[in-house]
Amino acid sequence: MEMKKQAIPGSVNAVTVVDVHHWTNRLFSFRVTRPDSFRFRSGEFVMIGLMKDDGKPLLRAYSIASPSWDHELDFFSIKVEDGPLTSRLQKIQVGDEILLGKKPTGTLVLDALLPGKTLYLLSTGTGIAPFASVIRDPETYDRFDHVVLTHTCRDVAELAYGEKIVKDTLEDPLVGEMVQGRLTHYTSTTREAHTHTGRITTLIENGKLFEDLGRKPFNKDEDRVMICGSMGMLQDTKDLCEAAGLTEGANSMPGEFVIEKAFVG
Ligand code: A2P
Repeated sequence: MEMKKQAIPGSVNAVTVVDVHHWTNRLFSFRVTRPDSFRFRSGEFVMIGLMKDDGKPLLRAYSIASPSWDHELDFFSIKVEDGPLTSRLQKIQVGDEILLGKKPTGTLVLDALLPGKTLYLLSTGTGIAPFASVIRDPETYDRFDHVVLTHTCRDVAELAYGEKIVKDTLEDPLVGEMVQGRLTHYTSTTREAHTHTGRITTLIENGKLFEDLGRKPFNKDEDRVMICGSMGMLQDTKDLCEAAGLTEGANSMPGEFVIEKAFVG
């Protein structure tokens, strides 16, 4: 698929696809070149997309799934058959060009959280993408003693991307040693048998998550939480954080938890 040679708007750069991996019939990830001028904080999102036939860009917000020190950029995406962007984006191949916005932003960043001891990263589906960035940032381990990454998907096959990211993190020459013994990956499924089953909200509510981790329930003094998933997941998980006495943070006013919607279509 070759992008038509049309004028590219000033708010985006054209970048080249260097890798594409299809994880399931619903999920794929891809890697693109990183412009020298492109700076971001681990956990942020950026607009990415393709040129439409009418010469206008079709852009959607995507979390950057690689850490801020990486020389290329990773993204993890759902495939929606009739989705305006993902129906086309899922066909990209190595060597193709896509559009990358110039202004990354977002709230799933360390700066939006008050200091704490344990950082919980709660994700469903493609909501793991920003955390694939955060768990590979050395600053995360400077600020927190321990990081717990939870990932809940419908079935076991959908957990594969997260398993790979965590394995790569532990083996990474730059951060691997720092992460050893300090990152816990907790996976659950809701529509297939697995070691742990159930929605993350259920596992928090009934205490099973904390029991399995050998940790105490959320505690305002020590625990900080980042949440990324569907609208329903965000609302329900946010309610549980607030019930535990945690307050929502933002870049302008750090707090005890932060949320962001995963890309959906
Ligand atoms: P479920 O199978 O019970 O719907 P999706 O792929 O649809 O985005 O879902 C990803 C995961 O998020 C699924 O395991 C799904 O569970 C779960 N999920 C969906 N809605 C919520 C919610 N409101 N709270 C917590 N988890 C949710």
